[in-house]
Amino acid sequence: MSISLKTDLLTTAMRRESHGTRPEMPRIMNLLRGQTNQLHAQLTRHSLLAPVLSDPPSRERYILVLKKLWGWQKAMEREIESRFDWEKFDYGFETRRKAELIEYDLRILGEENSISDIPECVDLPDLSSPAKILGATYVLEGQTLGAQLLYSNLNHGLNLDAESGCKFLQCYGPDPMPKWIEFGQFMDKASAGLSDDEMVHSAQQTFNKLNTWFSV
Ligand code: HEM
Repeated sequence: MSISLKTDLLTTAMRRESHGTRPEMPRIMNLLRGQTNQLHAQLTRHSLLAPVLSDPPSRERYILVLKKLWGWQKAMEREIESRFDWEKFDYGFETRRKAELIEYDLRILGEENSISDIPECVDLPDLSSPAKILGATYVLEGQTLGAQLLYSNLNHGLNLDAESGCKFLQCYGPDPMPKWIEFGQFMDKASAGLSDDEMVHSAQQTFNKLNTWFSV
């Protein structure tokens, strides 16, 4: 089995605070990482994800995870997009939408008819201020890094790639780092003058809400 593969993945996930060759990130990004590290590790250990991280991964469980993520992403993107002045910072929100990529994957994986039945998450984090929106967006964008590990397991175990069911996991291509660095620069500018505590609390709440959504 690959208990060892899974353990390696989780160990890497838990060590995300020490990332060797990763570029220096702005202060706010380091703060958010440090203050959500444990919640992230907890999420990666969620029982919903385990069969997707195992060797071989379960196709059925991957589809279930995609449905869960669609219900979350769809609702979060709608709220986040409409509540913040993204254009002011040249963010290019449309280049970072991901719910539509999950829909694409579900179609390719033969789930076209069930998409309209997938429930959307209604128990969302509090997104009532710019600081809270930035904290939540940090979690939504950060998932593109961990997505590489899920992708690698699905690619090796089920031979899936971006065209055959993993477009969401590969949303920024094989290397998400350039978009992550760009995101860090955006966060640096957009967070100026906003409350660190509010951003941190919102990122923590977002991890907790996603954890709860995975459990219902
Ligand atoms: C949907 C669930 C997930 C969310 C919301 C999420 C969220 C995040 C966030 C916010 C970051 C950025 C951390 C930073 O500031 O550097 C991150 C990075 C990372 N995540 Fe996840 N993650 C998820 C699932 C996973 C899974 C399942 C794994 C692996 C088992 C994983 C492994 C990692 C790793 C290794 C990094 C760091 C990458 C690096 O430093 O280069 N994540 N994730």
